[in-house]
Amino acid sequence: MAADADGLARAAALIGAGGLVALPTETVYGLGADATDPEAVAAIYAAKGRPRFNPLIAHVATVEAALGEGTFDEAALRLAEHFWPGPLTLVVPAASTGSVCDLARAGLDSVALRVPAHATARALLERVGRPVAAPSANRSGRVSPTSADHVLTDLDGRIAAVLDGGACPVGVESSVVACLGGPPRLLRPGGVTRAAIAAVLGFAPEAGGDPGSRPVGPGLLASHYAPRAGVRLDATGLEPGEAVLLFGAFRPAGLDRAAAVETLSARGDPAEAAARLFGALRRLDASGAPTIAVVPVPEEGLGEAINDRLRRAAAPR
Ligand code: TXA
Ligand code: MG
Repeated sequence: MAADADGLARAAALIGAGGLVALPTETVYGLGADATDPEAVAAIYAAKGRPRFNPLIAHVATVEAALGEGTFDEAALRLAEHFWPGPLTLVVPAASTGSVCDLARAGLDSVALRVPAHATARALLERVGRPVAAPSANRSGRVSPTSADHVLTDLDGRIAAVLDGGACPVGVESSVVACLGGPPRLLRPGGVTRAAIAAVLGFAPEAGGDPGSRPVGPGLLASHYAPRAGVRLDATGLEPGEAVLLFGAFRPAGLDRAAAVETLSARGDPAEAAARLFGALRRLDASGAPTIAVVPVPEEGLGEAINDRLRRAAAPR
């Protein structure tokens, strides 16, 4: 559906009735449902094929609405005031007055909250008037979607609608920071850089594993964001038949015989690279090459989030 007044009204009605609607945000497309309705939330897990131990982010229209869903300590308040609306998710203790259902929180005492900046997401959240649970709108374990077409590739026939808001400007998911009493922990690097978070806090956030990517059994590593092709990192040369993902001016040996080539950012800009990452992975995957070789990407700025996603794409499955 077009992201116009009519599309927004229909999307809000569908979500209000317990349906699943994919929506654009500044990071990636989310698969939205009423976060207060356990049946609607169960339908998200089913459509994605997502394990139910992995909790969802509740999206709200305003900082005020977020404050009603969780208990914010000083650090959480500071981060919320500075980065919302925007690509930051805060995990805080769930408020006793909160409305996000147990299933969306995977039974935890905490709740993940985000006020997105994307105009369409905000307009939809205002119309729904309730928190909207929205994981990335891809089949579980697959590459996250940054266009309405990506959403349909994975979920056509499993969801009621997708609101088409064009390409997502940030391109990687939100940074997830837990403020649960102790020092704030960066659970997932994302659209807000570690340096920007540290500048607002006045100190660096602690490292913290992302519980959603924790191995659940022997052999099940942190594989996520995975294309069908294998992914080989830090490639300085290409094997015959490989597709290649380039960054900056670096040219791997054997580039002339690559099966397919995509460039994240010719000028070496991490923000441009993040915005192009998931689309480029999907296109290289579509080339049919058995392996995608990725040249080194520096860790600076959004490079941390890019490398995190690439490492998960390369993890054994
Ligand atoms: O940019 C984004 O964050 C996108 C857009 C749609 O907002 N959403 C997204 O959702 O990436 P998802 O479900 O793919 O990732 C949510 C992450 C997971 O790693 C999950 O484990 C973590 O947030 N999370 C959610 N609730 C949590 C909680 N209570 N404690 C710890 N981690 C939590
Ligand atoms: Mg996801």
